[in-house]
Amino acid sequence: MATLLSPERVTTPEPPISPIPPLTPIPPLTPIPVKPGLPLLGDLLAFTSDPLGFLQKTPNSYADLVAIRMLGGLFYQVNHPHLIEQVLVTQSQHFIKDKGLKVMGRPVFGDGLLSSDGDFWLRHRRMAQPAFHRQRIAAYADYMTAYAAETLAGWRDGEERDLYHDMMQLTLRIVAKTLFDVEENAEVDEIGDCLDAIMWRFDNQSVRAMVEQATGWTVPTPALKRYHRSVQRLDEIVDNVIAQRRHSHEDKGDLLGMLLAARDDDGNGMSDTQLRDECKTMFLAGHETTALTLSWTWWLLWQNPEAAAKLRSELDTVLQGRVPTLADVPQLPYTDRVVRESMRLMPPAWTIVREATADVELANETGLRYCLPKGYDVVISQYAVHRDGRWYPNPERFDPDRWTPEFNKSLPKYAYFPFGGGPRLCIGQQFAMMEAILILAMIGQRYELDLVPGQRIEPQPSITMRPKYGMKMRVRARM
Ligand code: HEM
Repeated sequence: MATLLSPERVTTPEPPISPIPPLTPIPPLTPIPVKPGLPLLGDLLAFTSDPLGFLQKTPNSYADLVAIRMLGGLFYQVNHPHLIEQVLVTQSQHFIKDKGLKVMGRPVFGDGLLSSDGDFWLRHRRMAQPAFHRQRIAAYADYMTAYAAETLAGWRDGEERDLYHDMMQLTLRIVAKTLFDVEENAEVDEIGDCLDAIMWRFDNQSVRAMVEQATGWTVPTPALKRYHRSVQRLDEIVDNVIAQRRHSHEDKGDLLGMLLAARDDDGNGMSDTQLRDECKTMFLAGHETTALTLSWTWWLLWQNPEAAAKLRSELDTVLQGRVPTLADVPQLPYTDRVVRESMRLMPPAWTIVREATADVELANETGLRYCLPKGYDVVISQYAVHRDGRWYPNPERFDPDRWTPEFNKSLPKYAYFPFGGGPRLCIGQQFAMMEAILILAMIGQRYELDLVPGQRIEPQPSITMRPKYGMKMRVRARM
């Protein structure tokens, strides 16, 4: 028998009907301005004659997002920190590494961390990450200073040195020892020579390289032959390093050991080709950028003697002539600012390029919406953004003192990104900062460096930003 309180008779009070909020209209997409260029060539000649100046000038004449015509196609340049954050971080799932890198980079670095994408990249990133944990990196500090001391022992008071060459050799030795336990100088030097010949192919200032990137066509030249020989030789050397380690069965606890021991969820390790790709990538990515940071820093310090004097004063006060250790790094705030400011003005990685894998909507700070179409490349230039007067007062001036904690706090997040950002953030950031500070300190303690008169200094934007004619410096001993 149903009671008065049978469930079917219990009624819950109706919620009050709230008025439907008025729909806020979604603003229509804003068309992205297209920079006019020559028919077919687009801006090829303007870009190749001065890639850095070209990318720096575009935002002034156009907007924070602009389409640039090139060889019958288009690419998009993104210039505002807010939009950059969307490409690198919040919408990073819709972007992969660009075609140019794949055309030029794959034949050398295969599917190494720099050039791979998706699950494959993620798996390998996870395998490599432990080699870059803070504690492990701390263990590398003594090698960094020991190798720097060895380099400096070869310098004579008053002599001319190619600083860029010395720094490349030093940082390659450090990477070879810390990540691969390779310490044979002749072998390391040969790796350096091969990488140098290989980098020729990435020169963004040559029409040849741009056409190759866009089409994959090559013209057989002696430089191309040297490139092919170097790719082959580098493979042989790296294969040999891997084979020796496999044979020794020794666990040295370094990156190579971790990559050899790593297994995925199915228990599979890396194939020989995958291992070789990762090792070559690390050899390249792990030395050139830090060597460039150090070279450009000394060039900037030579132009700014007051900053150089301030650096020496900090080093003398804090270190009192001792070799710096990891524990000294936090005690050297001015040295840190010098490195930071150097990477602002002369970022070794001067652009980041991505390809959109879907139509991606970006919104600027005022709510304007843009659509980056699927399949197109997006270029973000550290060089251009780091010199933008909206974020940096007196942007062309080398001023380490600008990096106060307050300035740091007020700076939009992606107005400074020498190491990139988001999931593809440089894996070696901490390694590089520690290395740059320790080596800068060791050189600054012992030497003053002057640019050799008549030496032409011009940045050459390749994958990295190199000094085109080297960097000859006269070294004067301080003690
Ligand atoms: C001053 C020195 C350095 C600078 C300025 C630098 C800069 C960068 C930048 C901008 C990226 C991101 C590229 C992109 O998003 O497309 C990157 C990635 C990478 N860097 Fe560095 N780097 C430096 C030192 C190092 C060192 C010392 C190592 C290794 C020992 C290293 C290894 C790598 C690797 C493997 C990647 C690819 C990471 C991934 O995609 O998972 N870098 N670096």
